Amino acid sequence: MTWYNGRLEAVSGDITACRVDAIVNAANSTLLGGGGVDGAIHKAGGPSILAECRRLRTEKLPDGLPTGHAVATGAGNLPCRHVIHTVGPIWFGGSRNEETLLANAYRNSLRTALELGVKSIAFPAISTGIYGYPPDKAAKVVWNVLCEHVEHKEQPEKIQLVFFSPASLAAFINALSAR
Ligand code: APR
Repeated sequence: MTWYNGRLEAVSGDITACRVDAIVNAANSTLLGGGGVDGAIHKAGGPSILAECRRLRTEKLPDGLPTGHAVATGAGNLPCRHVIHTVGPIWFGGSRNEETLLANAYRNSLRTALELGVKSIAFPAISTGIYGYPPDKAAKVVWNVLCEHVEHKEQPEKIQLVFFSPASLAAFINALSAR
């Protein structure tokens, strides 16, 4: 499914296979890897990504990457140039500023992409896996952030939302129509 003349697209697939300038990783604050998309990116990208994350922790982020913030590394063996690591909020029921923190994770990933001159970027469904954010609630947050960005910024000229299954892609699209 695409919007804005194809500039914004929702697809299903494996984000580690995306041939874009940058993919976004749903990391945790340690930046030292994990399961889910984080695990897939480190596995497919190889050890250079983790080595760079360790350096970032030592040199810039001794307390880790705060929720909602973003930082970029190289992409190792992945078919993209950058990995933008961001930390989404853990879902506690919606009373701990989760909506703003999730929006910030997408906004700060896009800000990092602009700083890098990224022309194409792929996002996973941040926080909707291990972190338990309800996908239908996340969909509305993501949609508002991306529409706001596309309507005010020229770059990235291609923004993809990559869902790991056709069912989660369909759920995203349904959630938008239920707004
Ligand atoms: N490609 C695209 N999407 C994927 C992939 C993949 N290869 N693998 C998983 N996903 C999807 C999941 O199905 C989910 O919809 O990414 C979404 C985010 O799920 P998680 O990876 O669990 O991320 P999140 O919910 O943000 O939890 C982050 O999990 O992996 C750990 O280190 C990470 O502690 C952090 C936490």
